[in-house]
Amino acid sequence: MPSVRVASSAPKSATAIDIPTSTEAVSKLPAARKSAAQRQGFEGKTGQTLVLAGGDGKQIEVLVGLGPAKELTTVKLRKAAAAFARTVSKHESVATNLMSHAEDLDQSAALAAIAEGLRLSTYRFNQLRSESSRKKHEVKLRTITIVASGKGLRADLNRANAVIDAVEFARDLVNEPGGSLTPQAFVAAAKKATADSGVKLTVWNEARIKRERLGGVLAVNRGSEHPPQFLQLRYKPVKGRPKAKIALVGKGITFDSGGLSLKTSTGMMSMKIDMAGAAAVLATMVALPAVKAQVEVTGYIPLTDNMTGPDAQRPGDVFTARNGKTVEVLNTDAEGRLILADALSLAAESDADAIIEMSTLTGSATAALGQSYAALFATDDELAARIEASSARSAEKLWRLPLPEEYRSQLDSTVADLRNIGTAPYGGALIAGLFLKEFVGDKPFAHIDLGLSAISETSKGINVKGATGYGVRLLTDTLTAW
Ligand code: BES
Ligand code: ZN
Ligand code: ZN
Repeated sequence: MPSVRVASSAPKSATAIDIPTSTEAVSKLPAARKSAAQRQGFEGKTGQTLVLAGGDGKQIEVLVGLGPAKELTTVKLRKAAAAFARTVSKHESVATNLMSHAEDLDQSAALAAIAEGLRLSTYRFNQLRSESSRKKHEVKLRTITIVASGKGLRADLNRANAVIDAVEFARDLVNEPGGSLTPQAFVAAAKKATADSGVKLTVWNEARIKRERLGGVLAVNRGSEHPPQFLQLRYKPVKGRPKAKIALVGKGITFDSGGLSLKTSTGMMSMKIDMAGAAAVLATMVALPAVKAQVEVTGYIPLTDNMTGPDAQRPGDVFTARNGKTVEVLNTDAEGRLILADALSLAAESDADAIIEMSTLTGSATAALGQSYAALFATDDELAARIEASSARSAEKLWRLPLPEEYRSQLDSTVADLRNIGTAPYGGALIAGLFLKEFVGDKPFAHIDLGLSAISETSKGINVKGATGYGVRLLTDTLTAW
C-alpha cells in the first residue's frame, strides 16, 4: 500500500500525474485534451477521471474532475483523490496537483482529505491470500507525492497519516475472521498498538470481570469457549489543560452467532464485523497522541463472542448488570446492549463529561438508513451537534434518530427491571438506544449505531469492499475539534 508525502514539485520517478479539472475548466483545456474530454464524456464531475497519454510519451496525465469550481469542498477533494489513486494504481510512483486547487480551503483539512482519498482507496487486506493470488490483488503504488508548498504542511501530513494508519488498523481488525480474532487476539493487537504510544492500556481478565460484577459481559460469554476480556485505554494531552473528559465505548463482539436465538446462515455471514465499534474506539485512541487532542479520553471495550455452548444463556435468563439493574434476556441475539450495559455503567461512574458509544448494534439502523449511514442517538443536543459537524467534515455519514419516551415501556419486564428487546416489531434501533440510556446515569450520551456502515459491498470512493473503518475519522475529528 502506498505512502503519501508532500514536496514542492513532482519527482522524476512519477509515471502519472493529474490535471485537476473543474466542470468550467473542461472547455478551457488545450485543444487536444479538450477534444479527448468531449469524445469520452469527461465533464469534470467530482470523481470522474480520464487517462491521457503524457506529453513526453512516458508520464501519463489524468484529468480528475472537481465539480463546479466555486463549490469545491474538502469532501470533494477526498473523492477526487480517491478516484485518481484508483485510476493510477498500476503505477509505482505518481504525483497529484490537487492541493493547487485548494487555496480557498483550510490547508491542513484539504491536505488531510487528499491523503485520506489517496491511501484509503488503495487499502488492501491480502494477508489471507496465497502468494500468487496476493500478487494479483496487490496495489502497485508505492509513493504518492502531493505537490504543495507552504508552512506546516509536513506536520499536517504526519497527523493525517496517523489517522489513516488508524483507519487501516480498524479495517484490518474488522476484516479478520471471527474464528481467529478472538477476544485474546484482539487484546494482543491492542497491546501491540499501544506499546510506547502514549496511551495506557489496562486489561481485565475473566476473574477481574467477575470481581467487577460485569454481569452483561459474563451473561453473553456463557456460551463461549474463550474467556471474556475488558479493556480500558487512557489518553491525556501532554501539554495544556484538557478541555474536557470524554468516555468512548465500543461494542466488541468478536463473532455474533446470535447465541441460542441463532441467526440464519445469511444473517450470520457478516457477523465477524460485530466488533467494529471496538475497533473504531481502539484505533481512535491510538491516533490521539499523534493528533495531539486537547481532551482527556478513556476508552472502554468489552470483548466476547456470542456463541451457543452448552451453558449459553437461555431466553428468559436474568442477569444483574454493573449498575445493579436486572435484565431479562428474551433474545440472546440482542447481546451487544448487554455487554455495553456494563461498559456504559463504568463510564457513567467515571468523571467523564460525556459518553460517546459506537456499536454494530442493530440491523434495524440499516433498515432505516441504508448502508452508507450510521444512526446517531443523543440525550444532549450540543453533543449531537459536535458529532454532526465532524460527520460533515469527515464524510462519515450519520443521521440522528429519536429516543422516544413513549416507547420506553416496551422494555418493562414481567420479572426483572428491564427486558432486552421491545414488544413491537418496529423501531428496533430506537428501542436499543433506549435500553443503553438506562446505563449512562445523567451524563450527556451519544450512541452511534453503525449497522452495516462498518462494511462496504463495493469498492467506491475511499471504501474498498469489506471493512470501512467507519468511526475512526469521525471520532478523532470530534475529539480534536473539542
Ligand atoms: N450484531 C447484530 C446487529 C447487526 C445486524 C449489525 C446486521 C449489522 C448487521 C446485533 O447483535 C443483533 O443481532 N441485533 C438484533 C436485535 C434484535 C434481536 C432485537 C437485530 O438487529 O436484529
Ligand atoms: Zn446479535
Ligand atoms: Zn451483535
